[in-house]
Amino acid sequence: MRNFLSVKDAGNIDELLRSAVDFRKAPFSQQSLGKGKRMGLVFLNPSLRTRLSTQIAAQNLGMEAIVFNGSQDGWALEFEEGAIMNGTSVEHIKDAAPILGRYFDVLGIRTFPSLKNKEGDYSEYVMNQFVKYSGIPVVSLESATVHPLQSLTDIITINDYLPLRNKTKPKVVLTWAPHVKPLPQCVANSFSEWMNAWNQCEFVITHPRGYELDEAFTQPASITNDQAQALKDADFVYVKNWSSYKEYGKTENNAGDWMLTNEKLDITNNAKVMHCLPVRRNVELSDEILDSPNSIVTQQASNRIWAAQAVLAKILKDLP
Ligand code: CP
Repeated sequence: MRNFLSVKDAGNIDELLRSAVDFRKAPFSQQSLGKGKRMGLVFLNPSLRTRLSTQIAAQNLGMEAIVFNGSQDGWALEFEEGAIMNGTSVEHIKDAAPILGRYFDVLGIRTFPSLKNKEGDYSEYVMNQFVKYSGIPVVSLESATVHPLQSLTDIITINDYLPLRNKTKPKVVLTWAPHVKPLPQCVANSFSEWMNAWNQCEFVITHPRGYELDEAFTQPASITNDQAQALKDADFVYVKNWSSYKEYGKTENNAGDWMLTNEKLDITNNAKVMHCLPVRRNVELSDEILDSPNSIVTQQASNRIWAAQAVLAKILKDLP
């Protein structure tokens, strides 16, 4: 594996999944793999889980991991080709990224979408310039449109609970949830494309009208605006807010009644409830669910380490 930017880089998902589960049993089994190697973790946006789990994963593999909070501590970066830099940006990505490529063996980047410039966000121009100019393997720590380490984690978590379901194709529902501000479509896009690629579950997406995702990520999942119909007999419910893709970045219909409650959970098959976190309690998800045995959000977040470790191990094995 050279880069890990989306499901397209994952190769065999079941192989990655098995590797993650093996690392969970024996975290330090491949310490020699990263010996003498350094990973740079550059965050252009805040993070708790991604930052710490990837750092732990790198250290488990014997690597040194250095975190750089680029948005707070770094110079304001310019990404536009040919820009006349007489405004607020101080350093061009063409100058900064090659230096990161000299300091590190592997680079992790977290960026976010503007939620204003759809074309720019969906071209992944920020992430792609780190790839182009750093010259070393790049791991997405969440980009403008996807969050692949989160999605691999989500699949590991669903797989952990599959034996309890005793079904050949358990039903997994991704449901839109309300929020107080516009959020990216990344987690929903990414979860959809990973679920489709993994193809081990019946996968249904439900959201209010106006929150249709880009079909490039969702096809061929079933999609409905009827949340109750979607939730019926669900084994897993993945709760997530996202802003409109069509009316890009807008949140005109903030359907408050879409929050998951115990009453809604009653129509599921005693579903396990997932969320990537952070979560706005009693806006996106009710206390009664988050504090109940149905919630597996903590187990889910703990799997972030093993997802990152499986990916980093594969990259380290393929380093020239
Ligand atoms: N789920 C997730 O990516 O969490 P952080 O934003 O805290 O890293």
